[in-house]
Amino acid sequence: MSKICLCLCEKTLEENLRVLEQHRAYIDLVELRVDKLLPNERFLIRRFPALAGMPVVLTIRRQSDGGSYNGTESGRLTLIGNALAYAEADRRMNFAYFDIEEDVDVPSLEEAARAFGTRVIRSLHLSSPPESAAAITARVKALVHFGDEIVKYAAPVNTLDDVIMIYAAARELNGLDKILIAMGSAGVSTRILTSKIGSMWTYAYAPETGAGIPPAPGQLDPRTLCDTYRFRKIKPDSAVYGILGYPLKVTASPLLFNTVFTREKMNAIYVPFPSESDESFIRLAQMLDVRGASVTVPHKQNILKYLTSQSADVQNLGACNTIVRTEEGWAGYNTDTLGFSGSLLNFIGKKSFRGMKITIIGAGGAARAALYQIWRLGGKAFIINRSRGRAEELADKYGFAAGSLNEIPLNKIRNYSDIIINTTSVGMGAGCKDDPLPAYKFRGTEIVMDLVYVPTQSAFLARAAAAGCPTLNGYDMLLRQAKLQYNLFFNSDYPEI
Ligand code: ATR
Repeated sequence: MSKICLCLCEKTLEENLRVLEQHRAYIDLVELRVDKLLPNERFLIRRFPALAGMPVVLTIRRQSDGGSYNGTESGRLTLIGNALAYAEADRRMNFAYFDIEEDVDVPSLEEAARAFGTRVIRSLHLSSPPESAAAITARVKALVHFGDEIVKYAAPVNTLDDVIMIYAAARELNGLDKILIAMGSAGVSTRILTSKIGSMWTYAYAPETGAGIPPAPGQLDPRTLCDTYRFRKIKPDSAVYGILGYPLKVTASPLLFNTVFTREKMNAIYVPFPSESDESFIRLAQMLDVRGASVTVPHKQNILKYLTSQSADVQNLGACNTIVRTEEGWAGYNTDTLGFSGSLLNFIGKKSFRGMKITIIGAGGAARAALYQIWRLGGKAFIINRSRGRAEELADKYGFAAGSLNEIPLNKIRNYSDIIINTTSVGMGAGCKDDPLPAYKFRGTEIVMDLVYVPTQSAFLARAAAAGCPTLNGYDMLLRQAKLQYNLFFNSDYPEI
């Protein structure tokens, strides 16, 4: 089973120990980044393993490899030598691992390490994405000098195609003691599915340090790995589920699914797959044997071309937010529809939208699901969108009215103001204050829904609430549609607490 290694990048050993203590319950080992220490502190590192009370990786990363060490090479090797010297019979007092780059050849250091049970990590840090899976495999195999090293390969990734190469190489390198790292947000799944890749550990960062920015792009923190991604439960044969979207900056779905997987003791894991290309995702999904996935912005329409069967909702809407692997191929469903109407009707205490006049802001995938249900359940809608053409197309389909956000028809909105719903992403993201309809003054009688749920109360909802309107954010809809997805993935009801 893969482990979690926390990178310690503070300026002093004391600070690093404090950070380690905060995460101890969530980690298995730490990497002491000596290059990040103040120069004076670097002479004190020999005693760090004894103070840490857990296995420590010794790393002094050069600037040329993305680190901060800018001294001479001989000075660096002396520091490593000192850190490995005076080895104790009790190995817990010594560094458990030391990381040395592929181009450094100092057999005496490696011999000394070996003699006292310190394992060598032979590492390669690339500055551009991999060329092919075969190239990765060849580079990693070439890292093995004596056969007892751990080999570490880190490359930046820009797209899911780059990430696919890492997964493909991992298969070829099965059985090797290795660590493969895809650096970048596209590679976040590789930071989680480490057990599947066969990497010995994943590197994690301490979010309370370094202004909360991971030292390597895409790195996760130990708590998120354990709590959101049930890292310690992932096995090589765990069934993979996930979410496709781009940029996929905000998603509560992994926590929703993984919490249930843990509670029900299921051998499954749900991970984010940020990808601009749906085609790449489908290829990766075949490769990882992904059993089912949620599909979100901007793929809900394009994903249709990969489906071998479509539910009636998908056919009607032309949008799919759930795909399930079957023997014939991918089956597509849409759970936004029932998620939307279930949430809103429950909020207003009604069984239908009969007699109600509703303004919908937006004409994308989410708006389509909402409009379909409003139409099915007897409501009338006025659709306003930035691009008027998209609003008109939807309005024509259902016999509704359309307008443009650019010349806001305030009187018309007042005429359709039993319920006002924002389906766009305007206002989404912690701290965001954008408002999709700033010119409209709420009277306090409108029911206002915003599909945005981060922040919990968007600027739009806050303004509506201040005017006395009942308000509802998109979290309950998300929960309801996720429960329906669970039902489709596992053919059983979402287990309530
Ligand atoms: P979703 O599936 O979440 O609905 P989508 O299909 O990409 O995502 O649709 C996004 C919706 O948000 C669209 O209505 C889009 O307007 P356009 O059709 O004019 O693109 C709307 N939207 C996104 N960003 C917007 C912005 N900054 N201002 C106004 N509308 C915006």
